[in-house]
Amino acid sequence: MEILIKAARIVDESKDFLGDLYIKDGKIEDFGEDLNYTCKVVDGQGLTLMPSFIDLHVHFREPGYTYKEDLDTGGLAALRGGYTLVNLMGNTNPICSSMEIVEYVLKRGKELDLVDIHQVVSITKDFDGYTLSHLDDLDERVKFISDDGKGIKSNIVMYKAMIKALEKDLTLMIHAEDEDLTPIDYRISENIITIRDIYLSKETGARLHLCHVSTKEAIEEVRRGKAQGVNLTCEVTPHHIALWDNDYKVNPPIRTKEDVDALIEGIIDGTVDAIATDHAPHTGEDKLKGAPGLSGIETAFPVSYTSLVKNGKIDLKKLSKLMSGNPGKIMGVRKGKIEKAYDGDVVLIDLDKEILIDSQKFLSKGKNTPFNGMKLYGQVMMTIKGGEIKYSNKDL
Ligand code: NCD
Ligand code: ZN
Ligand code: ZN
Ligand code: ZN
Repeated sequence: MEILIKAARIVDESKDFLGDLYIKDGKIEDFGEDLNYTCKVVDGQGLTLMPSFIDLHVHFREPGYTYKEDLDTGGLAALRGGYTLVNLMGNTNPICSSMEIVEYVLKRGKELDLVDIHQVVSITKDFDGYTLSHLDDLDERVKFISDDGKGIKSNIVMYKAMIKALEKDLTLMIHAEDEDLTPIDYRISENIITIRDIYLSKETGARLHLCHVSTKEAIEEVRRGKAQGVNLTCEVTPHHIALWDNDYKVNPPIRTKEDVDALIEGIIDGTVDAIATDHAPHTGEDKLKGAPGLSGIETAFPVSYTSLVKNGKIDLKKLSKLMSGNPGKIMGVRKGKIEKAYDGDVVLIDLDKEILIDSQKFLSKGKNTPFNGMKLYGQVMMTIKGGEIKYSNKDL
């Protein structure tokens, strides 16, 4: 399969130029000016071509909660959002604590052939907060472990999990929350676990990735940890950089303007490695019952582009680094950059068109979003994976 995209603005973390891009046998074969190949041609005039996005933090709810989302609807939603690789969290039913469930998800993902899927396994077996023995059974297909959705209370369990992760070459994805403190002060709740886990990582050498960092104190701890050489990466979500003083139910909660400014400062100075959606689809009924989270994978780019680039905080190259380059590096895949022999996964975007967010149009089963009715910029027009057009906006 071959495809040539002509006359687009081509942007990745280190490039920004007007030109063409040619994909052959699934890989980027060539890019530059005035390319000529006899194959399918897509007119990129007026559009921006970027590496497709890579999401480190996603909930597709399969197995067990497929009434909220499944690998099919999740994959379609991801493509509509411009994503071609997702890292799926293990708070499913059953919890993903075994290779059997990993294999089920990977096999189903292959059959669907929508986006590439990596599956995260729980740190503690069935999120029991203690048992780590299942980690011995993991093979090299698993790169990340996380009890995301839940905090790990015990210091000794987290310490031992880090020793085990080091031994198995796994990265721990940290949901920093002390659930005893949450009802009293969710700021202290996030900060204290962030401080503990960075300290434990410093002592053990284990590789940490901090999920959905949301407070100014937590981001400062990450900055300090990195300066001390701690083996650390972190993500922020689009909603935590675009919203403040908003009581939409999500974990961690939407913070204050001061926190948002600190997160953006962290983005500018490189403390923040990635933007990850924490796509957390729920039914309307479950939201009414208090389920935290938002269906974010279809709005991540426009929300991030509008609040960071359109507002003049960072340039588009930097946004590409946060949504593609760095997540690709963290996941260890040859994706996320416009480089020869990298995967031919790209998106075409109309940066200038104003879009009205309408959650009823989401391909995700989850229509839960605080962005409904908002006017944003950065419409994904086409998502190409391995040279194959997987999603095309009807307006094109
Ligand atoms: C997530 C979910 O619904 O699975 N919810 C959320 O509010 N972020 C869990 C999580 O990411 O902690
Ligand atoms: Zn295919
Ligand atoms: Zn979480
Ligand atoms: Zn999550």
